[in-house]
Amino acid sequence: MSKSVLILPGDGIGPEIVTEAEKVLSALVEKHGLEISTEQGLIGGRAIDETGSPLPEETLALGKQSDAVLLGAVGGPKWDNIERSLRPERGLLAIRAGLDLYANLRPAILYKELAGASSLKPEVIDGLNILIVRELTGGIYFGEPRGIRTLEDGQREGFNTLVYKESEIERIARIAFDVAMKRNKKVCSVDKANVLEATELWREVVTHVSDDYPEVSLEHMYVDNAAMQLVRDPRQFDVIVTTNMFGDILSDLASMLTGSIGMLPSASLNAGGKGMYEPIHGSAPDIAGKNIANPLATIISVAMMLRYSLAEPAQADRIERAVQQVLANGLRTADIVSDGMTKVSTSEMGDAVVTSL
Ligand code: IPM
Ligand code: MG
Repeated sequence: MSKSVLILPGDGIGPEIVTEAEKVLSALVEKHGLEISTEQGLIGGRAIDETGSPLPEETLALGKQSDAVLLGAVGGPKWDNIERSLRPERGLLAIRAGLDLYANLRPAILYKELAGASSLKPEVIDGLNILIVRELTGGIYFGEPRGIRTLEDGQREGFNTLVYKESEIERIARIAFDVAMKRNKKVCSVDKANVLEATELWREVVTHVSDDYPEVSLEHMYVDNAAMQLVRDPRQFDVIVTTNMFGDILSDLASMLTGSIGMLPSASLNAGGKGMYEPIHGSAPDIAGKNIANPLATIISVAMMLRYSLAEPAQADRIERAVQQVLANGLRTADIVSDGMTKVSTSEMGDAVVTSL
């Protein structure tokens, strides 16, 4: 049966990189028998401009009907000064919450061809393969109360709330242990249990869930130490499971171990396996429209989508092999180019991947 994919290009470099990912999808449909249909929707700044809302109801409804969502990126300086609840990022948070995509998988894998692009020494990152499992629909990103209020003395005070229910911790912990069983059977749970009660509970619940996974070794680490260890000796990690905000920060950090944030895909899954797939980099407004952005993170996100939500693992392998091939052939976008390599544009990179399929 044909599957449906909702495509949300978004803002900044979003439309350019998504165009390249769509080329790859169309090539699989036309030449390799993949059966999927696609539809486009509005989100983020463009949705604000055209409908007044960063997540129009129609987009959420389309997302609910589709088997998977492919997203580019949202946000940009144009919308930075509008009312908080109407900013592009709120559209992204609202679709994550609206589709209950609580499990965010962010792999940081070193492509050996790109070892030179990392700021760390090759011997520290050789063979790096970490999976960050970030809780995505709870924690301080969604906790109430939140806001900016004026105090009696006239000054303003900003406040947010870090909350986690046992059930929210338990379900993300299970995802981490389940994926660890398919990898090196090591989970590192990252918290700040020495200071924050919400993550004291986090640590307790994760430990409890680990009883069901006797083969997986569990370690706990404070987030400050984890940031340090990720730069000192990243290969000590297999699966990292952490809260929404810590995962946001650590996944950007982990991405640079691999040379470029332009290479890293992500999957955000709900309990039923529906997923939204997006590169972890943002909308990069400074380079938007110049045809220089790296489309590979989005293209690799398509591979994740085929594997996790569309039950097409062979097609996912095909994309990943094609990306590897293109890198082996020496093609590089500006963010990963080095001496002796061939610098290509966004669209040339997409075309090269299609040719390699
Ligand atoms: C990410 C981004 C988002 C987040 C922003 C754009 C709201 O940084 O996906 O990591 O903080 O989750
Ligand atoms: Mg982020």
